[in-house]
Amino acid sequence: MSIISKDIQKAVALLTADKLVAIPTETVYGLAGNIFSEKAIKSIFETKKRPFFNPLIVHIPSVESLDSIVSHIPEKAKKLADAFWPGSMTLVLKKQSTIPDLITAGKDTVAVRVPNHPVTLELLKQLPFPLAAPSANPFGSISPTKPEHVERYFKNDIEQVLDGGPCTNGIESTIIGFENDEPIIYRLGALALEDIEAVAGTVRIKNKKEVSPDAPGMLDRHYAPSTKTILSENILAEIKKHSGKRIGVLTFKTDLKTESITLQIILSQKGDMAEATSKLYDAMHHLDHQNLDVIVAEKFPDFGLGKSINDRLQRATFSS
Ligand code: TXA
Ligand code: MG
Repeated sequence: MSIISKDIQKAVALLTADKLVAIPTETVYGLAGNIFSEKAIKSIFETKKRPFFNPLIVHIPSVESLDSIVSHIPEKAKKLADAFWPGSMTLVLKKQSTIPDLITAGKDTVAVRVPNHPVTLELLKQLPFPLAAPSANPFGSISPTKPEHVERYFKNDIEQVLDGGPCTNGIESTIIGFENDEPIIYRLGALALEDIEAVAGTVRIKNKKEVSPDAPGMLDRHYAPSTKTILSENILAEIKKHSGKRIGVLTFKTDLKTESITLQIILSQKGDMAEATSKLYDAMHHLDHQNLDVIVAEKFPDFGLGKSINDRLQRATFSS
């Protein structure tokens, strides 16, 4: 029997009983639990096989709830929250002492966002506690943008995927932290850098692959298919190199009429970056299940959401 269901009351009951529910958001599906339930939070880490040093994002129903989660809100954080919540932006701020260490991996900061999905906003309004929710995928693999992706990963581990349809934005939220009250991007994501800068002024990007990164989602190889993946500006040359193999190709809008390709996915025929972003992970899931020898992905134009897509594709490759 499928665990995918639209029943919000069932989700309320499960979450209240310290169990996990996969929830829809506009970015990717999350694996959610009560932030105050040690049992639920531990099972998030166990289910995902996620290391405990990697902190979780707290999901709240409205900007007003922020005061109960964080102890200090820099002026630019307030501006950003007012401009983009509900939406695909996560803020990392000084936490209230009530936020459990398990959520923040012992840090004195907490990541928080108001997701922009009607089903999950309704769920959050009905619950007396916020939800911790990392992306609903095993650690290191491709994030889910459809209920079926989550079901494939976790059908033996959880009782419900709350069905909210396909995610409209399709990659994870943009994470913004603060140093001396100035915003810094920890993770590029579904909200374009240019949009953030229009509200907050120039922001620094600290999206590096460091050994001890500020946002551990920035670890080198992440968001990765199990099929060898190559990111290239010259995909034709790459395809030639692998001739004779089963090749999958992922492009922005280019239609390669080459016989040596087993499967080609064009993310947006009309060259719409938002459409391409929303389809990216579904395409990667699909390509990863075709018994291909290699996936060749085309590098995107390096601005707007293209910058975020390139970041994810880069992390999906073996050698970078
Ligand atoms: O779009 C999203 O953000 C999705 C949906 C479900 O909301 N969630 C998501 O969660 O992508 P996750 O756990 O896969 O990624 C959360 C990232 C991790 O890279 C984590 O290291 C970072 O947020 N993070 C969490 N708390 C942090 C903190 N206090 N300081 C710095 N980074 C933090
Ligand atoms: Mg994740």
